[in-house]
Amino acid sequence: MKAIVISAPGGPEVLRLEERDKPSFAVNEVLIKVKAAGVNRPDVFQRKGNYPAPPGVPADIPGLEVAGTIAACGVDVEQWKVGDRVCALVAGGGYAEYVVVDAAQCLPIPLGFNFTEAASLPETVYTVWSNVFQRGRLSPMETLLVHGGSSGIGITAIQLAKAFGAKVFVTVGSDEKGAACLQLGADRYVNYKLEDFAEAFADDGVDVILDMIGAEYFERNIQVLKTEGRLVFINAMKGNAATLDIMKVMRKRISISGSTLRNRETAFKAALTKEIGEKVWPIMEAGEFKPVIYKTFPLEEAYQAHALMESSAHIGKIVLVVDDEK
Ligand SMILES: NC(=O)c1ccc[n+]([C@@H]2O[C@H](COP(=O)([O-])OP(=O)(O)OC[C@H]3O[C@@H](n4cnc5c(N)ncnc54)[C@H](OP(=O)(O)O)[C@@H]3O)[C@@H](O)[C@H]2O)c1
Repeated sequence: MKAIVISAPGGPEVLRLEERDKPSFAVNEVLIKVKAAGVNRPDVFQRKGNYPAPPGVPADIPGLEVAGTIAACGVDVEQWKVGDRVCALVAGGGYAEYVVVDAAQCLPIPLGFNFTEAASLPETVYTVWSNVFQRGRLSPMETLLVHGGSSGIGITAIQLAKAFGAKVFVTVGSDEKGAACLQLGADRYVNYKLEDFAEAFADDGVDVILDMIGAEYFERNIQVLKTEGRLVFINAMKGNAATLDIMKVMRKRISISGSTLRNRETAFKAALTKEIGEKVWPIMEAGEFKPVIYKTFPLEEAYQAHALMESSAHIGKIVLVVDDEK
Protein backbone atom coordinates (compact mmCIF):
# COMPACT_ATOMS: atom_id res chain seq x y z
CA MET A 1 0.00 0.00 0.00
CA LYS A 2 1.00 3.65 -0.35
CA ALA A 3 1.73 5.49 2.88
CA ILE A 4 3.16 8.82 3.95
CA VAL A 5 6.19 8.22 6.12
CA ILE A 6 8.12 10.58 8.41
CA SER A 7 11.58 9.93 6.94
CA ALA A 8 13.34 11.87 9.75
CA PRO A 9 12.24 14.49 12.30
CA GLY A 10 11.98 17.87 10.59
CA GLY A 11 10.00 20.20 8.35
CA PRO A 12 7.09 19.28 6.05
CA GLU A 13 9.57 18.02 3.39
CA VAL A 14 10.44 14.96 5.53
CA LEU A 15 7.00 13.51 4.69
CA ARG A 16 7.63 11.01 1.86
CA LEU A 17 5.34 8.68 -0.07
CA GLU A 18 6.51 5.06 0.29
CA GLU A 19 5.29 1.52 -0.37
CA ARG A 20 4.54 -0.41 2.82
CA ASP A 21 2.98 -3.80 3.57
CA LYS A 22 -0.73 -3.73 4.32
CA PRO A 23 -1.11 -3.94 8.12
CA SER A 24 -2.28 -7.26 9.62
CA PHE A 25 -5.23 -7.25 12.01
CA ALA A 26 -6.16 -9.03 15.24
CA VAL A 27 -9.45 -10.82 16.02
CA ASN A 28 -11.04 -7.66 17.47
CA GLU A 29 -9.82 -5.31 14.72
CA VAL A 30 -10.97 -4.15 11.29
CA LEU A 31 -8.91 -3.27 8.22
CA ILE A 32 -10.14 -0.01 6.70
CA LYS A 33 -9.58 0.95 3.07
CA VAL A 34 -8.94 4.63 3.65
CA LYS A 35 -10.72 7.16 1.42
CA ALA A 36 -9.73 10.28 3.37
CA ALA A 37 -7.57 11.12 6.39
CA GLY A 38 -7.83 14.21 8.60
CA VAL A 39 -4.76 16.32 9.39
CA ASN A 40 -4.36 17.50 12.98
CA ARG A 41 -1.81 19.68 14.76
CA PRO A 42 -0.52 16.69 16.78
CA ASP A 43 0.63 15.17 13.42
CA VAL A 44 2.88 18.21 12.99
CA PHE A 45 4.31 17.73 16.49
CA GLN A 46 4.92 14.03 15.66
CA ARG A 47 6.66 14.97 12.40
CA LYS A 48 8.97 17.27 14.34
CA GLY A 49 9.84 14.43 16.71
CA ASN A 50 7.95 15.82 19.73
CA TYR A 51 4.96 13.48 19.91
CA PRO A 52 5.96 9.83 19.49
CA ALA A 53 3.33 7.23 18.59
CA PRO A 54 2.26 4.92 21.42
CA PRO A 55 3.31 1.24 21.23
CA GLY A 56 1.35 -0.93 18.80
CA VAL A 57 0.83 1.65 16.04
CA PRO A 58 3.17 2.43 13.13
CA ALA A 59 5.85 4.73 14.57
CA ASP A 60 6.50 6.66 11.36
CA ILE A 61 3.11 6.93 9.60
CA PRO A 62 1.12 9.88 11.00
CA GLY A 63 -2.66 10.24 10.96
CA LEU A 64 -5.16 10.11 13.83
CA GLU A 65 -8.49 9.89 11.97
CA VAL A 66 -9.80 8.32 8.78
CA ALA A 67 -12.94 7.58 6.82
CA GLY A 68 -13.30 4.70 4.39
CA THR A 69 -14.82 1.29 3.92
CA ILE A 70 -14.28 -1.89 5.88
CA ALA A 71 -11.98 -4.16 3.83
CA ALA A 72 -11.75 -7.07 6.31
CA CYS A 73 -12.87 -7.96 9.84
CA GLY A 74 -11.18 -9.99 12.60
CA VAL A 75 -13.09 -13.16 13.54
CA ASP A 76 -14.51 -11.66 16.76
CA VAL A 77 -15.91 -8.54 15.07
CA GLU A 78 -19.71 -8.63 15.01
CA GLN A 79 -20.81 -5.03 14.51
CA TRP A 80 -19.19 -4.42 11.07
CA LYS A 81 -19.06 -6.20 7.73
CA VAL A 82 -16.95 -5.76 4.61
CA GLY A 83 -18.10 -2.73 2.63
CA ASP A 84 -19.51 -0.74 5.59
CA ARG A 85 -18.75 2.99 5.41
CA VAL A 86 -17.07 4.11 8.62
CA CYS A 87 -14.94 6.78 10.20
CA ALA A 88 -12.49 5.92 12.95
CA LEU A 89 -10.20 7.31 15.61
CA VAL A 90 -6.75 5.76 15.15
CA ALA A 91 -3.62 6.27 17.26
CA GLY A 92 -1.44 6.61 14.13
CA GLY A 93 -1.08 5.23 10.60
CA GLY A 94 -3.97 7.20 9.07
CA TYR A 95 -1.98 8.71 6.16
CA ALA A 96 -2.10 5.45 4.19
CA GLU A 97 -4.28 3.38 1.87
CA TYR A 98 -5.11 0.94 4.67
CA VAL A 99 -5.20 1.21 8.44
CA VAL A 100 -6.10 -1.19 11.23
CA VAL A 101 -8.14 -0.24 14.29
CA ASP A 102 -10.15 -1.84 17.08
CA ALA A 103 -13.70 -2.37 15.79
CA ALA A 104 -15.04 -0.45 18.81
CA GLN A 105 -13.32 2.77 17.64
CA CYS A 106 -15.35 3.01 14.42
CA LEU A 107 -18.60 4.86 13.86
CA PRO A 108 -20.84 4.80 10.80
CA ILE A 109 -20.37 7.79 8.52
CA PRO A 110 -23.12 10.21 9.57
CA LEU A 111 -25.97 10.37 7.06
CA GLY A 112 -25.38 13.17 4.56
CA PHE A 113 -21.59 13.30 5.11
CA ASN A 114 -19.09 12.33 2.41
CA PHE A 115 -15.78 10.57 3.16
CA THR A 116 -13.79 13.83 3.33
CA GLU A 117 -16.23 15.40 5.78
CA ALA A 118 -16.40 12.24 7.89
CA ALA A 119 -12.59 12.01 8.05
CA SER A 120 -12.52 15.48 9.60
CA LEU A 121 -14.56 14.41 12.62
CA PRO A 122 -13.09 11.76 14.96
CA GLU A 123 -9.98 13.40 16.46
CA THR A 124 -11.63 16.73 17.21
CA VAL A 125 -15.07 15.40 18.19
CA TYR A 126 -13.56 12.84 20.61
CA THR A 127 -11.18 15.44 22.07
CA VAL A 128 -13.94 18.02 22.54
CA TRP A 129 -16.43 15.54 23.94
CA SER A 130 -13.96 14.12 26.40
CA ASN A 131 -12.53 17.46 27.56
CA VAL A 132 -15.40 19.96 27.32
CA PHE A 133 -18.37 17.77 28.18
CA GLN A 134 -16.94 14.94 30.31
CA ARG A 135 -13.95 16.56 32.04
CA GLY A 136 -15.25 20.18 31.85
CA ARG A 137 -18.89 19.20 32.59
CA LEU A 138 -20.21 22.02 30.38
CA SER A 139 -23.95 22.48 31.00
CA PRO A 140 -26.62 24.26 28.97
CA MET A 141 -26.73 28.02 29.79
CA GLU A 142 -23.06 27.99 30.88
CA THR A 143 -20.34 29.84 28.96
CA LEU A 144 -17.43 28.09 27.25
CA LEU A 145 -14.25 29.95 26.22
CA VAL A 146 -12.28 28.26 23.44
CA HIS A 147 -8.80 29.51 22.61
CA GLY A 148 -7.98 29.06 18.93
CA GLY A 149 -11.65 29.28 17.92
CA SER A 150 -10.96 28.74 14.21
CA SER A 151 -8.78 25.63 14.72
CA GLY A 152 -10.08 22.16 13.93
CA ILE A 153 -10.71 21.78 17.66
CA GLY A 154 -12.27 25.25 17.86
CA ILE A 155 -14.85 24.84 15.10
CA THR A 156 -15.89 21.55 16.70
CA ALA A 157 -16.12 22.95 20.23
CA ILE A 158 -18.16 25.97 19.08
CA GLN A 159 -20.74 23.88 17.25
CA LEU A 160 -21.12 21.15 19.86
CA ALA A 161 -21.36 23.63 22.74
CA LYS A 162 -24.03 25.61 20.88
CA ALA A 163 -25.94 22.43 20.01
CA PHE A 164 -26.05 21.63 23.74
CA GLY A 165 -27.33 25.08 24.67
CA ALA A 166 -24.18 26.81 25.96
CA LYS A 167 -22.83 30.28 25.20
CA VAL A 168 -19.45 30.33 23.41
CA PHE A 169 -16.63 32.88 23.46
CA VAL A 170 -13.46 32.38 21.40
CA THR A 171 -10.04 33.90 20.87
CA VAL A 172 -8.66 34.14 17.32
CA GLY A 173 -5.71 35.73 15.53
CA SER A 174 -7.69 37.74 12.94
CA ASP A 175 -11.09 39.34 12.43
CA GLU A 176 -11.66 37.06 9.43
CA LYS A 177 -11.27 34.06 11.72
CA GLY A 178 -13.53 35.74 14.28
CA ALA A 179 -16.24 36.27 11.67
CA ALA A 180 -16.04 32.58 10.69
CA CYS A 181 -16.50 31.59 14.35
CA LEU A 182 -19.56 33.87 14.69
CA GLN A 183 -21.03 32.23 11.59
CA LEU A 184 -20.63 28.84 13.24
CA GLY A 185 -22.59 30.12 16.22
CA ALA A 186 -19.99 31.62 18.57
CA ASP A 187 -21.46 34.50 20.58
CA ARG A 188 -18.33 36.66 20.81
CA TYR A 189 -14.73 36.65 19.68
CA VAL A 190 -11.60 38.45 20.75
CA ASN A 191 -8.78 39.03 18.29
CA TYR A 192 -5.95 38.28 20.72
CA LYS A 193 -3.52 40.28 18.60
CA LEU A 194 -5.52 43.47 19.28
CA GLU A 195 -7.29 42.91 22.60
CA ASP A 196 -6.77 41.20 25.96
CA PHE A 197 -9.36 38.43 26.31
CA ALA A 198 -9.38 38.60 30.11
CA GLU A 199 -10.36 42.26 29.99
CA ALA A 200 -12.86 41.75 27.17
CA PHE A 201 -14.66 38.89 28.95
CA ALA A 202 -14.19 40.22 32.51
CA ASP A 203 -17.80 41.35 33.02
CA ASP A 204 -19.37 38.10 31.75
CA GLY A 205 -16.84 35.58 33.05
CA VAL A 206 -16.77 32.00 31.75
CA ASP A 207 -17.58 28.61 33.28
CA VAL A 208 -15.31 26.34 31.22
CA ILE A 209 -12.13 27.07 29.26
CA LEU A 210 -10.73 24.70 26.63
CA ASP A 211 -7.09 25.75 26.44
CA MET A 212 -4.29 24.75 24.07
CA ILE A 213 -2.07 27.78 24.80
CA GLY A 214 -0.80 26.97 28.31
CA ALA A 215 1.49 29.15 30.43
CA GLU A 216 1.07 32.37 28.42
CA TYR A 217 -2.68 32.41 29.16
CA PHE A 218 -2.67 30.70 32.57
CA GLU A 219 -3.04 33.72 34.84
CA ARG A 220 -5.65 35.34 32.60
CA ASN A 221 -7.58 32.06 32.35
CA ILE A 222 -7.78 31.89 36.16
CA GLN A 223 -8.83 35.55 36.23
CA VAL A 224 -11.70 35.16 33.74
CA LEU A 225 -13.14 31.95 35.23
CA LYS A 226 -16.28 32.25 37.34
CA THR A 227 -16.71 30.60 40.73
CA GLU A 228 -16.69 26.79 40.29
CA GLY A 229 -15.06 27.32 36.85
CA ARG A 230 -13.19 24.52 35.06
CA LEU A 231 -9.94 24.98 33.12
CA VAL A 232 -9.14 22.07 30.81
CA PHE A 233 -5.84 21.78 28.94
CA ILE A 234 -5.43 19.90 25.69
CA ASN A 235 -2.00 21.34 24.95
CA ALA A 236 0.49 23.98 26.08
CA MET A 237 1.68 25.50 22.81
CA LYS A 238 2.97 28.65 24.55
CA GLY A 239 4.74 27.18 27.56
CA ASN A 240 4.05 24.32 29.95
CA ALA A 241 5.34 25.77 33.22
CA ALA A 242 3.18 28.36 34.97
CA THR A 243 2.95 29.90 38.45
CA LEU A 244 -0.28 29.18 40.28
CA ASP A 245 -1.80 31.54 42.85
CA ILE A 246 -3.37 28.86 45.03
CA MET A 247 -5.51 31.37 46.94
CA LYS A 248 -7.30 32.36 43.73
CA VAL A 249 -8.08 28.72 42.99
CA MET A 250 -9.45 28.28 46.53
CA ARG A 251 -11.48 31.48 46.52
CA LYS A 252 -13.20 30.61 43.24
CA ARG A 253 -13.20 26.82 43.81
CA ILE A 254 -11.66 26.30 40.37
CA SER A 255 -10.90 22.85 38.92
CA ILE A 256 -7.85 22.45 36.67
CA SER A 257 -7.52 19.42 34.48
CA GLY A 258 -6.41 18.20 31.07
CA SER A 259 -5.79 15.13 28.95
CA THR A 260 -4.28 13.66 25.81
CA LEU A 261 -6.39 11.28 23.78
CA ARG A 262 -3.90 9.36 21.71
CA ASN A 263 -2.26 7.35 24.49
CA ARG A 264 -5.52 6.38 26.23
CA GLU A 265 -6.44 2.70 26.44
CA THR A 266 -8.79 1.01 23.97
CA ALA A 267 -11.50 0.54 26.62
CA PHE A 268 -11.64 4.31 27.19
CA LYS A 269 -11.79 5.04 23.46
CA ALA A 270 -14.47 2.37 22.96
CA ALA A 271 -16.64 3.90 25.73
CA LEU A 272 -16.12 7.35 24.21
CA THR A 273 -17.09 6.03 20.77
CA LYS A 274 -20.32 4.59 22.18
CA GLU A 275 -21.25 7.81 23.98
CA ILE A 276 -20.44 9.97 20.94
CA GLY A 277 -22.50 7.66 18.72
CA GLU A 278 -25.46 8.12 21.07
CA LYS A 279 -25.15 11.81 21.92
CA VAL A 280 -23.26 13.53 19.08
CA TRP A 281 -24.13 11.55 15.94
CA PRO A 282 -27.82 12.53 16.10
CA ILE A 283 -26.70 16.20 16.08
CA MET A 284 -24.57 15.55 12.99
CA GLU A 285 -27.39 13.76 11.23
CA ALA A 286 -29.90 16.48 12.13
CA GLY A 287 -27.71 18.96 10.23
CA GLU A 288 -26.83 20.94 13.37
CA PHE A 289 -23.08 20.48 12.85
CA LYS A 290 -21.36 21.71 9.73
CA PRO A 291 -18.03 20.12 8.81
CA VAL A 292 -15.63 22.95 7.96
CA ILE A 293 -13.11 21.73 5.37
CA TYR A 294 -10.67 24.52 4.54
CA LYS A 295 -8.70 22.58 1.93
CA THR A 296 -8.02 19.04 0.72
CA PHE A 297 -4.79 17.63 -0.68
CA PRO A 298 -4.05 14.30 -2.37
CA LEU A 299 -2.20 11.88 -0.07
CA GLU A 300 1.14 12.41 -1.82
CA GLU A 301 0.94 16.15 -1.05
CA ALA A 302 0.78 15.63 2.72
CA TYR A 303 3.81 17.92 3.02
CA GLN A 304 1.74 20.77 1.54
CA ALA A 305 -1.03 20.07 4.03
CA HIS A 306 1.46 20.32 6.92
CA ALA A 307 2.96 23.53 5.52
CA LEU A 308 -0.54 25.04 5.37
CA MET A 309 -1.32 23.96 8.93
CA GLU A 310 1.91 25.48 10.19
CA SER A 311 1.11 28.76 8.43
CA SER A 312 -2.09 28.88 10.54
CA ALA A 313 -3.87 30.44 7.55
CA HIS A 314 -6.58 27.76 7.68
CA ILE A 315 -10.03 27.99 9.24
CA GLY A 316 -11.30 24.55 10.24
CA LYS A 317 -9.93 21.28 8.96
CA ILE A 318 -7.40 20.14 6.37
CA VAL A 319 -8.01 16.68 4.88
CA LEU A 320 -5.94 14.29 2.73
CA VAL A 321 -7.88 12.55 -0.03
CA VAL A 322 -6.44 9.07 -0.30
CA ASP A 323 -8.87 7.58 -2.82
CA ASP A 324 -11.47 9.81 -4.42
CA GLU A 325 -13.65 6.98 -5.77
CA LYS A 326 -17.14 7.39 -4.32
N1 LIG B 1 -5.02 16.68 24.09
C1 LIG B 1 -5.49 16.09 23.03
O1 LIG B 1 -5.95 14.95 23.08
C2 LIG B 1 -5.51 16.83 21.71
C3 LIG B 1 -6.13 16.27 20.60
C4 LIG B 1 -6.16 17.00 19.41
C5 LIG B 1 -5.57 18.27 19.36
N2 LIG B 1 -4.96 18.75 20.48
C6 LIG B 1 -4.33 20.10 20.45
O2 LIG B 1 -5.31 21.05 20.14
C7 LIG B 1 -4.70 22.13 19.44
C8 LIG B 1 -5.49 22.42 18.17
O3 LIG B 1 -5.34 21.35 17.28
P1 LIG B 1 -5.88 21.46 15.79
O4 LIG B 1 -5.57 20.19 15.12
O5 LIG B 1 -7.26 21.97 15.84
O6 LIG B 1 -4.84 22.57 15.23
P2 LIG B 1 -4.96 23.87 14.36
O7 LIG B 1 -6.19 23.83 13.52
O8 LIG B 1 -3.66 24.05 13.67
O9 LIG B 1 -5.12 25.02 15.45
C9 LIG B 1 -4.11 25.67 16.15
C10 LIG B 1 -4.69 27.02 16.55
O10 LIG B 1 -3.91 27.67 17.53
C11 LIG B 1 -4.28 29.05 17.44
N3 LIG B 1 -3.38 29.90 18.22
C12 LIG B 1 -2.04 30.00 18.17
N4 LIG B 1 -1.60 30.89 19.08
C13 LIG B 1 -2.71 31.37 19.73
C14 LIG B 1 -2.91 32.30 20.81
N5 LIG B 1 -1.90 32.94 21.40
N6 LIG B 1 -4.20 32.52 21.24
C15 LIG B 1 -5.24 31.88 20.68
N7 LIG B 1 -5.10 30.98 19.67
C16 LIG B 1 -3.85 30.73 19.20
C17 LIG B 1 -4.20 29.27 15.94
O11 LIG B 1 -5.07 30.34 15.63
P3 LIG B 1 -4.57 31.77 15.15
O12 LIG B 1 -3.96 31.64 13.79
O13 LIG B 1 -5.84 32.51 15.14
O14 LIG B 1 -3.58 32.23 16.14
C18 LIG B 1 -4.82 27.97 15.41
O15 LIG B 1 -6.21 28.16 15.14
C19 LIG B 1 -3.26 21.75 19.17
O16 LIG B 1 -2.44 22.37 20.12
C20 LIG B 1 -3.27 20.25 19.37
O17 LIG B 1 -2.04 19.73 19.77
C21 LIG B 1 -4.92 18.08 21.63
